[in-house]
Amino acid sequence: MYNYEKYTAVKAEIERRRLAAEAEADSRSADLRAKSAEIAEIDRELSGTGMKLFKAALAGEDLIPLKERNQELNKKRREIIVSLGYPEDYTDVHYTCPLCRDTGYVGGSKVCSCLKEELIKATIASSGIGNLIEKQSFDNFELGIYEKDERIYKRMKNNLEVAKRFVENFRTEPGNLLFVGKTGTGKTHLSTAIAREIIKSGFDVIYDTTQNIMSDFETDRFKNAYSQAEPLAEKYLKCDLLIMDDLGTEFATPFTVSCIYNLINTRQNRGLSTIISTNLDQQELLSRYEDRIYSRLIGSDYRVLCFVGPDRRLV
Ligand SMILES: Nc1ncnc2c1ncn2[C@@H]1O[C@H](COP(=O)(O)OP(=O)(O)O)[C@@H](O)[C@H]1O
Ligand SMILES: [Mg+2]
Ligand SMILES: [Zn+2]
Repeated sequence: MYNYEKYTAVKAEIERRRLAAEAEADSRSADLRAKSAEIAEIDRELSGTGMKLFKAALAGEDLIPLKERNQELNKKRREIIVSLGYPEDYTDVHYTCPLCRDTGYVGGSKVCSCLKEELIKATIASSGIGNLIEKQSFDNFELGIYEKDERIYKRMKNNLEVAKRFVENFRTEPGNLLFVGKTGTGKTHLSTAIAREIIKSGFDVIYDTTQNIMSDFETDRFKNAYSQAEPLAEKYLKCDLLIMDDLGTEFATPFTVSCIYNLINTRQNRGLSTIISTNLDQQELLSRYEDRIYSRLIGSDYRVLCFVGPDRRLV
């Protein structure tokens, strides 16, 4: 699920909106009181009604006359506002989200759609997918382009179906995918399409190239041992779904190979899903990485999908 820091940041932003909206309404009221003695008088009386109601309730008195007086004052106040040439709701609080009055919750505990939307936006922003998220989806992953070749068509149709099922079952059945195929065959497209759907259903997703991920591990490695900051690579070990793109294009050293193994292994042990894509074929994977990485990827932990067809970058 969305991580806690993101949730607190988004909640604080919504809270900030609410306070700003209330402060603006207050300042519009103050403005009107300066312009109209009548409004100043009404506001003075209205500001005491809470206390009056409270006292009357304690004393067991009838509250209806007080409430009626309150309504009458509010009505009069609106009339004056209009007569001064302002819109009737001029001093109302203009919330960004009237549904939850910028609290993030409706009816006490139900998460408002605005809070959900902001969480999705924040997760997209931190996912590393950037503008690919708008460009690449299941909807614009075309199969028609493969129809000339029955074998290619069947494979790519199957890949799309597996990807969609991966999304549908994500909540209950974490799983891992290995996308294998030459450049331009749609591996990044399909993996970011998956990311987009998984983020929308409320999970924390990170997408990046293997090279960039490894560079964060390198940075952590050479950081001051006394540094208080959370390691950069921590997020790759924690997110609900990690998409590690272009395995095999990173500069391979014994250090990166052991990082990749640790990453795959830790995520597997934690029951977190991973999608890895690579231009390398099985033989190249085996010769580049240790047997223990190869056997994880090609063994039973990962479902291997082969991407075939023309290089779409050249189409
Ligand atoms: N089946 C497809 N339908 C629509 N666009 C596709 C398809 N396959 C690939 N593309 C597009 O072709 C380009 C290259 O695909 P990409 O996913 O980057 O390939 P890969 O990651 O395998 O190298 C991208 O712009 C992608 O959106
Ligand atoms: Mg790619
Ligand atoms: Zn709301």
